[in-house]
Amino acid sequence: MTRKINIFDTTLRDGEQSPGASMNTEEKLVIARQLLRLNVDIIEAGFPISSPGDFESVRRIAELAGDKAVVCGLTRAIDKDIEVCADALKYAKRPRIHTGLGVSPSHLHDKLRITEEQCIERAVHAVSYAKTFVEDVQFYAEDAGRSDYDFLVKVIQAVVDAGATVVNIPDTTGYSLPEEFGARIAYLMENVRGIENVTVSVHCHNDLGMATALAMAGVKNGATQVECTINGLGERAGNTAMEEVVMAIRMHEEELNAHTDIHTREFVKASRLVSSITGMNVQANKAIVGANAFAHSSGIHQDGVLKKRDTYEIIDPADVGAGASQIVLTARSGHAALNHRLEELGYEFSGEELDKIYEAFLNMADKKKEVYDEDLESLVNERDREETA
Ligand code: KIV
Ligand code: ZN
Repeated sequence: MTRKINIFDTTLRDGEQSPGASMNTEEKLVIARQLLRLNVDIIEAGFPISSPGDFESVRRIAELAGDKAVVCGLTRAIDKDIEVCADALKYAKRPRIHTGLGVSPSHLHDKLRITEEQCIERAVHAVSYAKTFVEDVQFYAEDAGRSDYDFLVKVIQAVVDAGATVVNIPDTTGYSLPEEFGARIAYLMENVRGIENVTVSVHCHNDLGMATALAMAGVKNGATQVECTINGLGERAGNTAMEEVVMAIRMHEEELNAHTDIHTREFVKASRLVSSITGMNVQANKAIVGANAFAHSSGIHQDGVLKKRDTYEIIDPADVGAGASQIVLTARSGHAALNHRLEELGYEFSGEELDKIYEAFLNMADKKKEVYDEDLESLVNERDREETA
């Protein structure tokens, strides 16, 4: 059996921090239901101290999830935050408090204005205090991606010793290169005593378009939890997209010695739901869930896919809930694709007949972005009229 990678969904917390994507409690509950259908391991339901609405969302999602998923609330390393979070999670069957603070030079000196020693003290206090409310405490080392390697080891060692069950290593600003981020995870795995007894999590942002690559580098080097969101929603350029990281793990299961328990056929539904609730459109060429993710428009590709789907498709669209591959008829399409669609519409042409229709089709396709079934029908009707004239 390969390593189980826990999927920690933060659509309702980091995802909601995406400008313009705020959601009310009812909307969050609808998304939480879909997250349960996806079978995610952990739902980060919100940041309870931030508003009464977020408190209520965490409380109601905890009730909804029952024992089907861990429900987690975010806090700063501040006692009041932790108390409010514990209160919101009071009725959760599987509660987790996610607490932490910045660890990079920029966070220590410019934002928090504390020394390294004070940072460690605050981290240990936050974890120990959270442990008085719940057993499952996750620590985040914010901006770990830009932190000093040895200081990060010290902080993580201290929180592991204080009883953290999960240590989250975020690349908060999406700054790292995948190899470097992977090396950072490997360094922690080698240098923190007892790290094999806790879960190492990665939380990567997409500022350089590499969130999924960063998360994968983490998994390759020992992380067994990935934090992610539906459609890659999140602060600024977003977070790691769940659908991408889960399918990347699935496609490379053997070499990564890793699997997830996600019900991948729920991805397209989840993507559409989050997009309609938040009003954040999904780009057509978005991996896995974009409208064009399984659409083929050039003649060479269409010919290959029609002969054998996996010539140009690494994933069966049905496996992510996207139905079937699409052959889109454009001016780049060839005889094979046109003939295929005509056959689907119940027409049979061959040889010269097909050549003639293809010529008419190209003339039409040069004037339009896409040729639809009704366009083909009118081409055939036109040809029939000419034949009978
Ligand atoms: O990006 C980040 O560092 C975060 C933490 C709060 C986990 O979102
Ligand atoms: Zn984040």
